[in-house]
Amino acid sequence: MRFDTPATTNPIDQKKIIGHAVDRVDGRLKTTGAAPYAYEQHAAAPDAAYGYVVGSAIAHGRIESLDTSAARRAPGVLKVITAADVGKLGKAGRNTAALFGGPEIQHYHQAIAIVVADSFEQARAAAQLVQVRYAAQAGAYDLAQARHDNAVTGAKDDKRVGDFEKGFAAAAVRLDATYSTPDQSHAMMEPHASIAVWEGDRLTLWTSNQMIDWGRTDLAKTLGLPKEKVRLISPYVGGGFGGKLFLRAEALLAALAARAAGRAVKVALPRPFMFNNATHRPATIQRIRIGAGRDGKITAIGHESWSGDLPGGGPEDAIQQTRLLYAAPHRLTGTRLAVLDLPEGNAMRAPGEAPGLMALEIAIDEMAEKLDIDPILFRIRNDTRVDPENPDRPFSQRRLIECLRTGAERFGWQRRNAKPGSTREGQWLIGTGVAAAFRNNLTMKSGARLRLSPAGVVTVETDMTDIGTGSYTIIAQTAAEMLGLPLDRVTVRLGDSSFPVSAGSGGQWGANSSTAGVYAAAMKLREAVAQRLGVDAASAEFVDGTVRAQGKSIPLGQAASAGELVVEDSIEFGDLGKRYQQSTFGAHFVEVAVDAATGEIRVRRMLAVCAAGRILNPKSARSQVIGAMTMGVGAALMEELAVDKKLGFFVNHDLAGYEVPVHADIPHQEVIFLDETDPVSSPMKAKGVGELGLCGVSAAIANAVYHATGVRVRDYPLTLDKLLDKLPPV
Ligand code: MOS
Repeated sequence: MRFDTPATTNPIDQKKIIGHAVDRVDGRLKTTGAAPYAYEQHAAAPDAAYGYVVGSAIAHGRIESLDTSAARRAPGVLKVITAADVGKLGKAGRNTAALFGGPEIQHYHQAIAIVVADSFEQARAAAQLVQVRYAAQAGAYDLAQARHDNAVTGAKDDKRVGDFEKGFAAAAVRLDATYSTPDQSHAMMEPHASIAVWEGDRLTLWTSNQMIDWGRTDLAKTLGLPKEKVRLISPYVGGGFGGKLFLRAEALLAALAARAAGRAVKVALPRPFMFNNATHRPATIQRIRIGAGRDGKITAIGHESWSGDLPGGGPEDAIQQTRLLYAAPHRLTGTRLAVLDLPEGNAMRAPGEAPGLMALEIAIDEMAEKLDIDPILFRIRNDTRVDPENPDRPFSQRRLIECLRTGAERFGWQRRNAKPGSTREGQWLIGTGVAAAFRNNLTMKSGARLRLSPAGVVTVETDMTDIGTGSYTIIAQTAAEMLGLPLDRVTVRLGDSSFPVSAGSGGQWGANSSTAGVYAAAMKLREAVAQRLGVDAASAEFVDGTVRAQGKSIPLGQAASAGELVVEDSIEFGDLGKRYQQSTFGAHFVEVAVDAATGEIRVRRMLAVCAAGRILNPKSARSQVIGAMTMGVGAALMEELAVDKKLGFFVNHDLAGYEVPVHADIPHQEVIFLDETDPVSSPMKAKGVGELGLCGVSAAIANAVYHATGVRVRDYPLTLDKLLDKLPPV
């Protein structure tokens, strides 16, 4: 099914099941431990050997010699494999060959060997016996230094509208400020893990991955196999956040090791290995310039962002939202890229907008203060109905103002005394902050297969993943709604490359795109059912497990009485995404208390208001948003990969040193979804919320801390050392 005209009324609009806060269909499996993650797929390979990955101890240089003889002789060891043992690997994706390093070393903890043994402990012990001599070379690890030295590229790709420099210089009120966000780690609950099983030249990989078809394609190319010979299975994923979008070292090394050992091999990356071996969200330095008239109208907005990556990598697109969020005739946006020899920078939840809004929405707060305008009114005054760079492109839906107003009322914004540092409760300085939320809405082709059994049960098969988001549930809801079935007569099977290729989970496109694929297949099934039953498809109603047409009421399963009825279809998206700007909007409100003596920051209240198309399941959507808000607290107050700028690695590479919020850090959280449908996004009229929920949160916290204390911190995370000597007297 091709989607290229805005959706009209369709069966989803009945909202008998869609739009309801139903429990997760996989909830019982999850809470009873019956939903195995990749490493726990014991039945798949009961005799699997264990692989332990050895990582490079230098960040940049060459391996001079690698002696595996002692490791090979260690108890229980079956094989020790280095890059030299596996020959040339195929190029795929963003150079997956670099997942197995040596003799050249690209980054610290790059995998350079895998030890395979009968037990995990034997493999781990033997890994310590691998002797490596390195010739280290000097590398570049310091983003601020690279920016200072102007050792960056990208300026020639700047996006300009009007004359930014002139417009900015002429503005009555101006802000020119620089902000920074640190390197961050996904730190998902389930580590990267895979079990590889070979049967002849066919590989089955039980793995933990967000994008089954990307992973399958890249693994096949890297191994030099036809895609048909590789199967990926990933039914349950314990979090990804972008870290599992791509093939990673443990998957490739499990496959190589299992082939060499002639036996199934399982590999999990130990937590302290993940931070430097896998990808991370790159640090940014962002310069923002805003010029406005005394009337509070922005006349010039400029946003430049510096970030680094390995050779051949790309920038963190932190200027993304600034191209679309506020009106202004004179505009400049651009990214600058430094080559850094740190581990690979790549997508992490709301790549671009998440770090971009951390800076932009502080700048907006600063500008509102300069103009002496309430920060909500300032945002409203600079709203736009069209893409500011292309005035012919309207937003399909844009309810930022309503998000801000709804939130302001709910949060009690009007009670706020605008003067910073004006509210105290004993030793606590109290502040409130607001920020806009913005994240683009992406759509991806997505397929599904539906099977109708004689008993009237529908089984959905698609390679879509559920990374903890609720995909199983919303897909079941979609099929049930479309076919007039109760939820318990729908079975959903996900995360297997033998199923039709789906949108996968990434970029908050998964929910809308994958359910739209199920919608397409369900439309086809309705036609096939009508044909089998000899009724008119257009007028037939699918209600309560029956098909009603021409005065008859026939059990749905009867259409499969001669054998299971199987259909497959996919949704393909036309150019609606070009004709309309599709984005999701929100507003975040936060109250903090800052200890005037110690600088300790406690978040007290959080409210998010989201406008993100039809909310398919308010319960799972709310869970996405409160999880994202929690991540925003981490980004604001704690999360930071500390870079060793001499040796070139992330020092705090475990969950003791890399801090994330725990329950005691998280206060009352509230989420409001505006009632919205977006007929331009898909037949589901839905969008994504999983990333929107994070966008803007950290800036709202930073603004609240400023309001509480009068101290403006522009470098994340907002740790107490950045406040302490500037706080007002206790
Ligand atoms: Mo997302 S960072 O595309 O999983």
